[in-house]
Amino acid sequence: MCPDPAGVWNTAAMDNDRNVAVLGAGKMGEILAAGMVRSGARTAGQILIADAVEDRARQVGTRHGFSIAGTNRAAVQDAGVVVLAVKPKDIGGLSAEIAPVLGRSHLVVSIAAGITTGTLESGLGTGVAVVRAMPNAASSVGEGITAICPGSTANKGHLERARELLEGVGPVISVDESLIDAVTAVSGSGPAYFALFAEALVDAGVTVGLPRDVSARLVAQTMRGTAALVTQGGMEPAEVREAVTSPGGTTAMAIRELERAGLRAGVLNAVQAAFDRAKGLGGAGRQ
Ligand SMILES: NC(=O)c1ccc[n+]([C@@H]2O[C@H](COP(=O)([O-])OP(=O)(O)OC[C@H]3O[C@@H](n4cnc5c(N)ncnc54)[C@H](OP(=O)(O)O)[C@@H]3O)[C@@H](O)[C@H]2O)c1
Repeated sequence: MCPDPAGVWNTAAMDNDRNVAVLGAGKMGEILAAGMVRSGARTAGQILIADAVEDRARQVGTRHGFSIAGTNRAAVQDAGVVVLAVKPKDIGGLSAEIAPVLGRSHLVVSIAAGITTGTLESGLGTGVAVVRAMPNAASSVGEGITAICPGSTANKGHLERARELLEGVGPVISVDESLIDAVTAVSGSGPAYFALFAEALVDAGVTVGLPRDVSARLVAQTMRGTAALVTQGGMEPAEVREAVTSPGGTTAMAIRELERAGLRAGVLNAVQAAFDRAKGLGGAGRQ
């Protein structure tokens, strides 16, 4: 199959404004693009996927039926919305590459941790509407949560457009940009915190005699059940803990040890460290 003169495959007869260029066919690019199709926000053919390594775009595109763009610029030229799904360190180069083909009709949605709307706007050129978003890894199973905030020229309509696309992977909340680094530290990195705790709990189960697969199953369903108590049962996390902790009982003994080990202070310090790192990503220490 050959690309058309703009370098885009499979894009015949599409309404360009509805097309979404996803630049970066890595983990999040694939997850978000697949979510847009799963939710019905866009058809697979309306997603134009591009990557620095064209073969990667081809693999992801083929897997989902997306249109495969030969270059970032070709994708942008054929789309109304542009999603920047590259690492923060690559945002500068990508912005410089696509700036000449961006116009006022484009909406750019960036998911790069730590990169401010101000940085994006100065790299992409004045007048381009920018929305910054922070999704998380649970997006891959449609259970993510994404925070969005507008840049200086993005209006309500732009925010709604971004919301419609990102809701394919879970709920979307609007926050002030001053809070996005805090969101990154809580829900962006959050799946890793819960996974680390779960990993330790599985090991602990093995220590007290459970076969590993049994321990893993118990932990996975307990994690899911606890989440449901909070999200569907309307309980606060503290209420769940209190409900399970009878005076002098087994849970009380366990909680005492967790507090003694400094779990609460550890979580506070961990989130502070992630927050500081997120702020640093916007500056010299990008990775
Ligand atoms: N993973 C998460 O849970 C998560 C959560 C929230 C936000 N984010 C944000 O999502 C972004 C992407 O993360 P990821 O984990 O999906 O990264 P990833 O898997 O490394 O994907 C990024 C892809 O973009 C490609 N790329 C690099 N420069 C490019 C360019 N100029 N044009 C087109 N493609 C380019 C990369 O190619 P090379 O590998 O060859 O460089 C790679 O294939 C990051 O900014 C991150 O902060 C991630």
